[in-house]
Amino acid sequence: MNKFLVKLRFWVRGILLGIARKLKEERLQGPIIRESKSLFSKEIKIPVPVSLIFTVIITYWMFVIGLGVNYKTMLATAIFTGASLVFFITQTQSKEKAILKDNDAVVLMCLLFIIAMLMFQISKEYISAFVSPVPAFALMAAMLLSLRIGILYTVILSLFTAFLNDMRLDIFLVMFCGGVVAVTNVQNILRRADFINTGIKIAVTNVAIILMFYFFNSYDISQFKYNLFYGLLNGAFAVIIILVFIPLFEKVFSRTTNIKLIELSDFNNPLLKRLMLEAPGTYHHSIMAADIAEQAANIIKDNSLLARVGAYYHDIGKLNNPRYFIENQVSGCNPHDELTPAMSKLILVSHVKDGIALAKECNLDNEIISIIEQHHGTTTMHAFYHKALQAGYDIDMENFRYPGTKPTTKIAAIIMLADSSEAACRSIEEPTAVRIKDTVEKVINNKFIDGQFSDCPLTLKDLEAIRDSIISTLVGIYHARIEYKET
Ligand SMILES: [Fe+2]
Ligand SMILES: [Fe+2]
Repeated sequence: MNKFLVKLRFWVRGILLGIARKLKEERLQGPIIRESKSLFSKEIKIPVPVSLIFTVIITYWMFVIGLGVNYKTMLATAIFTGASLVFFITQTQSKEKAILKDNDAVVLMCLLFIIAMLMFQISKEYISAFVSPVPAFALMAAMLLSLRIGILYTVILSLFTAFLNDMRLDIFLVMFCGGVVAVTNVQNILRRADFINTGIKIAVTNVAIILMFYFFNSYDISQFKYNLFYGLLNGAFAVIIILVFIPLFEKVFSRTTNIKLIELSDFNNPLLKRLMLEAPGTYHHSIMAADIAEQAANIIKDNSLLARVGAYYHDIGKLNNPRYFIENQVSGCNPHDELTPAMSKLILVSHVKDGIALAKECNLDNEIISIIEQHHGTTTMHAFYHKALQAGYDIDMENFRYPGTKPTTKIAAIIMLADSSEAACRSIEEPTAVRIKDTVEKVINNKFIDGQFSDCPLTLKDLEAIRDSIISTLVGIYHARIEYKET
């Protein structure tokens, strides 16, 4: 017995020390706080473990209140909640690291869960379990967090509604299928009006499942009519919930949805209009870079819409001094001829800083701001460095680097490559397919050797696919131009 107690003490001590070490490490590294206008990242920093523990406790008590306060229910609920939490964490830990480290995202994730649980209780008590808004919350999780989290929400929330309603299979299937239909439809939602189509799809799915149970003699005719009505209502209810909550969460938690990206891609946007009028060369370059980046993002199955919109805005900082950038210069008139290389370097660096400032001023999303910040990484301004050497300055190459940061996402890396490849190919005198291929390969190799992708999850396979895509898009663009010139 004594031996057992010693062993137990040893294990408990080990576990407690492990937790303490983990908490200390996290405190040293600090959670990722995004610079944004969001309420939580700026004013209140809720640690990730606190959000998770709070949500688990609230969920547990909601279950206990809904199912009855007795020993057996409390134990069953504890097992069910614990198993769901383990399932959720194991499924997100490896693939959703970025979200789990982002305070805003975790608070949003927990809030979605708590509101959903509250609505399940209200639906069950006052209306019908068939109006529990699982599809609405699963879709919001997919839009505001990630597709994987949307699918996980579908599974867990459907199980939760079934658990709250005596483990009823019909309720589980209605919620699960409605959730799957909603989440798999997320790519088709590009305008706020598209929510209505999703609501109709959810309602049709619910009707199909309820009909199936009716044919299996699970309901009598009055139950069938009742469930059918509330199954249909679930679709309409989903549209209302999404229309109310999505704009609110977009704003409060500074999340970027496809709808917001589509709104930003409108060329009537004042920033894009200014770019077109005040820096037409940069505007044209941005559109070309957007075409290239969108195709490349498509190839590696990343968010091509974010790549396109990010490329539109990546150089907005040039609006402050458009004449100092080659694409806006009239031939034979280069203001850098009058400046020292150090001064030229400062102007180039400032377009990144000015871009970030302008983007913040215009309330652009964090993801776009990160792209602006990272599109040159810590690359060297070779032209001005060599100009400085030729002028006899004894200068370190490190002084001619952009301050960064390096790309942290695949999309930011794609925009960096699309930007540089487009600029490099523009200077080829006779752009044949072979010359374009050599130029793009050189650009990508140089960035890779320079370590620009060391902070982003880009694999060599991705890089090869991106290279092939950039070459094929650029060859397509220049081939079309040559043919046009010849006709
Ligand atoms: Fe730039
Ligand atoms: Fe650029």
